[in-house]
Amino acid sequence: MIVVFIGYMASGKSTLGKVLAQKLNYSFIDLDDYIEEKENTSVSNIFKTKGEIYFRKAEMLHLKSILKSKNNIVLSLGGGTPCYSNNIELLLKANNIKNIYLKASILTLVERLKNEKTKRPLIAHIKTDELLTEFIGKHLFERTQYYNQAEIVISTDNKTEIEIIEELIFQLF
Ligand code: S3P
Repeated sequence: MIVVFIGYMASGKSTLGKVLAQKLNYSFIDLDDYIEEKENTSVSNIFKTKGEIYFRKAEMLHLKSILKSKNNIVLSLGGGTPCYSNNIELLLKANNIKNIYLKASILTLVERLKNEKTKRPLIAHIKTDELLTEFIGKHLFERTQYYNQAEIVISTDNKTEIEIIEELIFQLF
């Protein structure tokens, strides 16, 4: 089975993905790290030198190749992955995939992202917390229609890592 984490930037996909993989004894893949390894450069540098369209194409191709695997994997996607190409259809149609949306409020996301902008090309240029809040509010609104298609939706606000993982395992099996 492939357990896929989807959700906005800083929703906890990579952190919780690693923990869940260890608990289930599955392999863990972070799609951004996978892309960086295959493309031999950072995501920020891909955006800077080749542009977002190139990144989205690479993201789709690498996602496709990972989804062919028959192994047990926990896969953490990038925040935009389900929202481009026909990625959401790919994720929903396979019968060996369970998609989990890690839902976090705008406030939680802003708090986490305001000090982590530099490595995230989509928000690196945003100067103030007010503008960041406005950007995330609109962006999340556009993306929610994709995220909400996941079979499992978990609200993560005010929950500990252990509580989220327990809830996830309960819903998965
Ligand atoms: C993106 C999220 C990033 C990364 C890229 C684009 C997005 O991943 O894939 O910067 O479109 O939301 P994280 O969600 O892991 O930050």
